[in-house]
Parts: sequence; C-alpha cells; structure tokens
Amino acid sequence: MRTLIKHALAATEPKEAITVSGWVRTRRDAKGFSFLELNDGSCLRNLQVVVDASAPGYAEIAQFTTGASAVIEGRLVSSPAAGQKWELHASRLQLVGPADASYPLQKKGHTLEFLRTIAHLRPRSNLFGAVFRTRSRLAHAVHQFFQERDFIYVQTPIITASDCEGAGEMFRVTSLKGNIDEKPTADFFGRAAYLTVSGQLEAETFACALSNVYTFGPTFRAENSNTARHAAEFWMIEPEMAFCDLQGDMDLGESFIKAMARHTLEHCAEDLGLFAKFVDKGVLERLQFVVERPFQRVPYTDAVEVLKKSGRTFEYPVDYGLNLQSEHERFLTEEHFKSPVTVFNYPREIKPFYMRLNDDGKTVTAMDVLVPGIGEVIGGSQREERLDVLQENMRYHKLRPEDYWWYLDLRRYGTVPHAGFGLGFERLLMFLTGVSNIRDVIPFARTPGSAEF
Ligand code: 4AD
Ligand code: MG
Repeated sequence: MRTLIKHALAATEPKEAITVSGWVRTRRDAKGFSFLELNDGSCLRNLQVVVDASAPGYAEIAQFTTGASAVIEGRLVSSPAAGQKWELHASRLQLVGPADASYPLQKKGHTLEFLRTIAHLRPRSNLFGAVFRTRSRLAHAVHQFFQERDFIYVQTPIITASDCEGAGEMFRVTSLKGNIDEKPTADFFGRAAYLTVSGQLEAETFACALSNVYTFGPTFRAENSNTARHAAEFWMIEPEMAFCDLQGDMDLGESFIKAMARHTLEHCAEDLGLFAKFVDKGVLERLQFVVERPFQRVPYTDAVEVLKKSGRTFEYPVDYGLNLQSEHERFLTEEHFKSPVTVFNYPREIKPFYMRLNDDGKTVTAMDVLVPGIGEVIGGSQREERLDVLQENMRYHKLRPEDYWWYLDLRRYGTVPHAGFGLGFERLLMFLTGVSNIRDVIPFARTPGSAEF
C-alpha cells in the first residue's frame, strides 16, 4: 500500500515498512550509500531517502536521476538531519520511469516565463505544486463557504445564446463550415451560440426560485487584453441572492474574500510559506490584514474625486462617466485607501443593462471590489427587478428585450429585489498567493495567440 509523502512526514512514530512513490528531485552519492530527495506532490516537502549500497536495486542507482519516477520501500526513522523529522531507509528500490539529462527541470531556479513554455512539466516544480495545491484547497473552500450558508450550487450552461455583459466579447460555438454568419438558423442550435461570459442570467432564474444560489465554473471572454490579469478562459464564482440589495451584496463579497484569506492562512500554511519566501514577501501580512480589517467603501463619484485630486498623472483620463482603469483601481486600493475597497453606484452608461437604476436616474447599483496588486476582483450589482425600467434600460443599451424574454419573465412573475456578484477565481488566487501573472495560477492558460497544451 502506498503512503503519500505528506502522511509519511506527518507520522507520529517510526514505521517498520512503508512504500512511497514519486519523482526524484535530487540524488547525492556518498561512499557506500546515496541520498535521494523524493517528491510526490502531496506536499511541498521532499522525503529524504537513504539508500545503502547493500539495498536490492542499488546497482541501478545511477538511473535515479532528477525527474525519474520511483517506488521505494523502507523504514521510516527519525532523521538526524536538521529541518526534517523523518527520513526513509530504503530496503528496496524500483525505478519506474527514467529521465535523462534533457529533463528541463533540473535543480536550478527557472523563470516563470520559461516554466510557461513547459506547462506540462511545471506542476513538478515547488512553486507550481504549491500554487495548484492552494488552488484545489480554495476551490473546496468556495463550496464550503456557500454550502455552510445554505446557498444552492447551480451548474449554469457553458454554451449560451445570450451575452450577459453585453460587451460582445464572446467566442462563437458553431458546427457550420464556411461562412457561419450566412444562416445562423442552419447552425447546430438553430441560432448563433457562444461560450458563456457569465452564468449570472441563468443564476438569477434559480435565485428567483431557490433564494440563495451560486455557480462556480469556467467562463470565456474573447477580449484581446494581453495583460497579467486577463485570460480568455477563467473560472468565476457567482452568488445570487433573492430578497437582497446592494448592501447585502457588498457584505457578502467582503465576507467571502475574508473567509478565503482565513482559509489560506489556516490550511495552506506550508505552501504560503513558499510564496512568502520566493514570490511576495508581504503576502502573510496582507492576508492577516484582510482577515482583520473592514474593507473601505466609496461611491464611484467620490472615487473619481480622489483620483482627480491625487496629483497623479495617469495614462488614461479620469472623469465622471469614464471607466476606472486598472491604474486608477490600483491607486485607490494600494495608495489612497491602503486596503481592499468597494466602489459602488457607477454611472449607468458604463455598466450592463441588468443593474438596478438608482433614484438619481443617473447611477446604477454596481459594486466592484478592488484589492491591492490586482485591482478589480469582484464585479456585482443589485439587479433591476422592475419590468418596465429593465425593458427601458435594455433599449438604452441597444438590446432587444424580446431576446431576453425568459429573463423578463422573472420580473413578470413574482419579481423580487435580488443581487449578486462575480469573482474571478484566478484573480483571487493571485491576491492570496502573491503570484502576479494570471497565467501562473491556472493549469493551462488560454490567452490571445496561445492555446498550447
Ligand atoms: O465584472 P464582470 O465582467 O462581471 C460579470 O460578469 C457579472 N455578470 C458577474 C455577476 O454579477 N454575477 O466579471 C466578474 C469578475 C471580475 O471582477 C474579474 O475578477 C473576473 O470576473 N474577470 C476575469 N478574470 C480573468 N480574466 C478575464 N478576462 C476576466 N474578466 C473578468
Ligand atoms: Mg467588471
């Protein structure tokens, strides 16, 4: 029976016989014995294996090179070496798959750019092992957070005919050959279909039946932004709550980010230690800060004033009615408020059709949560629940209400105030680990011009 290295290292007493399996990180030969560092990805640390020249299989020791896979049986005994409690004294070695000197992950440090070119092997590096264990743990935490609060998990469709964000940044899904625009009715679904940019509209239908719901799934955007925070395929978490207003929405967003920071501190301590050492010296302090301090909240109008009075020259203009760019968002959260900040009540013209119009007739109940190092991590709103106002807003945004007949039905039958948000899972991971490029927190990045692997 195989013992995972994380369990071997967490042993409370020596073990007469265990079997571990993994990949050789390094080997050091001495007179009459060798040391192997074995890693199986179950945790950051390697298990040190001491192989005596008399052990069966030792004749092959020269083949236990960096990258080779092996199964090793032995005795788990307390280690005299500093910094490790246990080591394995091998009684039998088995080489499973050799790796020759062309194996790209030799011991020296590699740049993240280089590691992206070997995305199929990078999970075997310390950093990417840590990133993807943390990603897995947080995916679990997302479900735990919502399930504990009685939110119902809804799997919204990946193929859709409606553009939720109205930004026209959708990937077309088609089975047609040749000119796909000639006759969409001849296409597979009898109409033009796309990969979803958000599960929100469908989540709203479920919230208007099951009260509190959430989605957590892949989302696609064909925006040509070659930045460190945009991917063409990313995962979004979208809670949606019936009988809830913007205030409740902002409260949930804040509690959610705090809970994820707390979970990382509590359950990913070892991997977080690696991030703190090699990726972002301030990460622990930042997470502690996020857990302990309330976020700032500021209306969009005031945020624009702060930016105008900042004395800063920004690349993009700042004025009421313009979108906040990443540089503006980062100034607000990193330099002005020095805290995560929720900006709310944005001008109607720069936000999608579904946001609820405020009584001023000019702003909508939007909210974006901005965090240091990233900028926007959450985008959400209270939804327009008044049928006539929603129809009018659709026309204002040049959408045809009849295309959204089922969405409008929610306002025809038992409409309720409701609200929700979308949080980019990768951006959250960047914030919690300090990893500064979205390509390095997703297993295989899809970005403009790149879909290798
Ligand atoms: O602000 P967005 O566009 O909001 C929506 O899609 C709403 N329908 C969500 C809702 O209310 N249910 O996107 C939400 C979040 C952003 O704040 C950002 O974190 C992430 O999704 N995001 C991206 N992450 C990575 N790459 C991209 N191209 C992203 N676009 C958005
Ligand atoms: Mg947004």
